[in-house]
Amino acid sequence: MERITPGGMLLGIDRDPGAVEAGRQALAAFGPAAVLVQGRFGDLESIAAAEGFDSADAVLFDFGISSAQLDAPERGFSFRAEGPLDMRMDQGSELTAERLVNRADVRELERIMRTLGEERWARRIAQYMVARRPLRTTRDLAEAVEAAIPRGAWPRDIHPATRTFQAFRMEVNDELGEIERGLEAALKILKPGGRMATISFHSLEDRLVKSYFNVESKDCICPPQQPVCTCAHRATLRIVTRKPVTPSEEEVAGNPRARSARLRVAERL
Ligand SMILES: C[S@@+](CC[C@H](N)C(=O)[O-])C[C@H]1O[C@@H](n2cnc3c(N)ncnc32)[C@H](O)[C@@H]1O
Repeated sequence: MERITPGGMLLGIDRDPGAVEAGRQALAAFGPAAVLVQGRFGDLESIAAAEGFDSADAVLFDFGISSAQLDAPERGFSFRAEGPLDMRMDQGSELTAERLVNRADVRELERIMRTLGEERWARRIAQYMVARRPLRTTRDLAEAVEAAIPRGAWPRDIHPATRTFQAFRMEVNDELGEIERGLEAALKILKPGGRMATISFHSLEDRLVKSYFNVESKDCICPPQQPVCTCAHRATLRIVTRKPVTPSEEEVAGNPRARSARLRVAERL
């Protein structure tokens, strides 16, 4: 806000009403130049239109969950503290983690953990979960994972339930779908020469952004073996960061949760 005022305006969007309120308080000094709205990244285009922002010079996405969400046991995001299996970023939405883990069949549970948690023990964990239903709390889920993965195969650097919790949280909030729709919306509202920047916290998010930027920066996306272009695709972005920008050691020392952050930037053509 200090860099863009006077003259500039910021539209801040978060699906968590608590985060929007915190943003309003933090940016109160900037008056009407900061507009904070509860909503989803995927709805960026319609939110921007409704708030009178017809185009943007810059769009910044800060994906994933916040410390405030992770550290509140009653939100159900953490295997470290006992809480209800909620995991909704927006508590007005319908699907909770509890409903998902108790209703989905064993194959669906396995799919979620394999694709969104890259968990190689997904099948066994799914079987243990089903056998232990109903699962009501974060502890119930963490214990099912601990029981399913043989002790000798527990990861050395992370808690064995880390991947499982990531997977269910991403499914409950459709995080990858939101990222995809958010990137498309950003492309539509950016002015030529405007930039979008993304901060990802794990490889699934980062891969999605990387491949989106790659496709959108190419004039042709036909398979390489095809002799003549038939796709009529035209580049809409120029990649600014060939490699993602990562935090310095100093930054990680001051904020350990930043250690896995990856920043990518692309410019609208
Ligand atoms: C890593 S935190 C960053 C929060 C804020 N930028 C800050 O630095 O305090 C990510 C935030 O994005 C929000 N979020 C995640 N997915 C979202 C989505 N699809 N639409 C809107 N907000 C989302 C979360 O509720 C969370 O508050």
